[in-house]
Amino acid sequence: MPTPAHRTIAPADLSPADFYQYLIGAVAPRPIAFASTISAAGLVNLSPYSFFNVMSMDPPILVFSPTSRGRDNSAKDTLQNVREVPEVVIHICDYALVEQLSLASAEYPAGVNEFVKAGLTEATSNQVRPPRVAECPAAFECVVEQIIELGDAPGHGNLVICRVVRAHFREDILLAGKPGVDPLKFEAVSRLGGDWYSRLRPENLFTVARPNRQLGIGFDGLPPHIRESNILTGNDLARLANVEREALPTPAQIAAARTEPLVAYLLNKHRADPAEQQKQLALLAQQWLAEGRVQEAWRVLLIDLS
Ligand SMILES: Cc1cc2nc3c(=O)[nH]c(=O)nc-3n(C[C@H](O)[C@H](O)[C@H](O)COP(=O)(O)O)c2cc1C
Repeated sequence: MPTPAHRTIAPADLSPADFYQYLIGAVAPRPIAFASTISAAGLVNLSPYSFFNVMSMDPPILVFSPTSRGRDNSAKDTLQNVREVPEVVIHICDYALVEQLSLASAEYPAGVNEFVKAGLTEATSNQVRPPRVAECPAAFECVVEQIIELGDAPGHGNLVICRVVRAHFREDILLAGKPGVDPLKFEAVSRLGGDWYSRLRPENLFTVARPNRQLGIGFDGLPPHIRESNILTGNDLARLANVEREALPTPAQIAAARTEPLVAYLLNKHRADPAEQQKQLALLAQQWLAEGRVQEAWRVLLIDLS
């Protein structure tokens, strides 16, 4: 496969604002933390942050980053609040809440409660002082363990490291009978570049088989006629390469594959043209790989056409 052309950029070649457009466009989709905080004086704030993720299982750690304001390098209210009261409730919103989440990102003056502006309901948290958004499908009450300033220029990040002490999940998004959230029932929204968002939808979800614990043969173990096929894609080859050597088809299985009606038909139809036979078998294998029939794909790909 030919390698595609790339544009190479040094951050210093562009203004920070222009390079940022590449950062947020490419690092996407980003989950969004809807963060509720409170000042020492008791004023509540609620704002979204897509510089956000989970960073540790034990302890359970979430991080997010309010950048300093580009216009005057001042600290956003959320950052000011967690410096005063090192506690936060981090919520995850679904599609039904995305416009209210966006409304809460408006730069209201410090002291304006975005719960009120965005029409959301305050629920008392169990372990921390900031209130929780009752409408959100998932919420994590956290104590702030550390704040790391990532620079001093306008727009520098401030990494807020948060340890989860309580979590709340709307019952209908949970998996039945085992721990966890059901991706088919949780329409989480996330952020891309520009004004773009994305939304989890069942039709966009798929699973990928984990790498074989027995260790698959890898791309370098694929026979050249398979690895160099101009039909099979990188995803197809990776599925084939995830099979361990001991599980590859035996000569008897390959011989049996040759006599399967569809395979026999294709071989017979193109008997005068081995290149076409190979192409047809690759297309059949590709279809089977898409259906998860990896062993059957291997069998037809190993048929000797010489
Ligand atoms: C979806 C979304 C994601 C955002 N992510 C961030 C972010 O990661 N960091 C940041 O500093 N601002 C981010 N913003 C902008 C802040 O939400 C915005 O500056 C807000 O007014 C800050 O509020 P505060 O000053 O009350 O804390 C985001 C806005 C939206 C709508």
